[in-house]
Amino acid sequence: MKMVLQYNGKRTYEEILASVKPVPLKVVGANVPNWRSANLLILGDNSRVMATLLKEFDFSGKVNLVYIDPPFATRNTYRIASRRGATISTGSDDEVAYSDALVGYEYLEFLRERLVLLRELMSSDASIYLHIDSKIGHYVKIIMDEIFGPDNFRNDITRIKCKPKNFPRLGYSNIKDIILFYSKGRRFVWHEPKVGFRDEDIERLYPKMTPDGRRYTTIPLHAPGETKNGSTGKPWRGLLPPKGRHWRCAPEMLDKLDAAGLIEWSSKGIPRRIVFADEAYRNGKRLQDVWDFKDPQYPLYPTEKNLEMLKTIIRTSSNEGALVLDCFAGSGTTLIAAQELGRRWIGIDNSHQAIATCLKRLTALKPNIFAQADFVYLEARDD
Ligand SMILES: C[S@@+](CC[C@H](N)C(=O)[O-])C[C@H]1O[C@@H](n2cnc3c(N)ncnc32)[C@H](O)[C@@H]1O
Repeated sequence: MKMVLQYNGKRTYEEILASVKPVPLKVVGANVPNWRSANLLILGDNSRVMATLLKEFDFSGKVNLVYIDPPFATRNTYRIASRRGATISTGSDDEVAYSDALVGYEYLEFLRERLVLLRELMSSDASIYLHIDSKIGHYVKIIMDEIFGPDNFRNDITRIKCKPKNFPRLGYSNIKDIILFYSKGRRFVWHEPKVGFRDEDIERLYPKMTPDGRRYTTIPLHAPGETKNGSTGKPWRGLLPPKGRHWRCAPEMLDKLDAAGLIEWSSKGIPRRIVFADEAYRNGKRLQDVWDFKDPQYPLYPTEKNLEMLKTIIRTSSNEGALVLDCFAGSGTTLIAAQELGRRWIGIDNSHQAIATCLKRLTALKPNIFAQADFVYLEARDD
């Protein structure tokens, strides 16, 4: 049975698509003949801008990866303090970056409208990552299930966002937020992300050392299951495998391993297979669903996210040359990551402060984004 979230003012998928009106887009900077295939930074309300991309500029099904980090229904006002950097503050010399004012069902319907438009823009093998906190995130998960289908839910990633800290309320200190990862369909782009082992893990997992300094551990040469007739159930070097088990490989292979110095014999004459750390961790290990990517300590923009985290998402879930969209672009972390990884991108934000920060960061890139012929800055204008 399909599970849905009910709340006041909820429209159908089709009503949302029909009701959002496109808005004229005016090219302001770096004009190029065919701006539709350029990297686009757009100032405007993301809903109407996406309606324009969808209904007037044929972007339907063209976006290969979406990352969004929308407001989290916190009731906070986020400011850029002229002296102290980005903050949540109220000082008179601070400039508002954005207000996170919508809460409850109004917030959910605001986000749902954007998710419907995003889904229409996504290609059949595209993925979407939605960054959210654990106060509102569980409601958002149900909405994502409704729009993308529970079968396309891939992960609920726990993101460690900061160091342990004092927490003013009773309860466990909150040091994480969550990232909901969905694909549009069953087949989606996936490049297995690998991470290195930490030194302490290597020391724990490979506690032994050869005389020439190679770390290793040993594992049993036998596995569960008795083999009555095969060679792996027969004695090797006069030893039978323990009761209920068989040798992992045939006696000739065991001889070869021993000759290669890959079997360690205990003082009691028990053989075990040697596994070297440098061979096991050469290719790294699979990235799990708990991520430690702390945000910048001195951000240029409030709620600025970790650049390496965005690079991990983009490397994993898109091919080179793919089109990446972030319609809550903020300081442009997604755009910078996409640019540096050779992907095309579209960034949308309705905050002048956000767009100014994006432009500042993009200009600091080498080569400077304005020196490239494939960047266009647009503004949504109703006039
Ligand atoms: C949490 S911040 C994104 C931060 C970003 N991930 C970064 O690394 O800097 C959310 C952004 O969404 C923008 N935003 C909120 N409502 C919007 C709307 N309707 N259209 C476009 N942008 C919107 C805000 O201006 C804000 O910059």
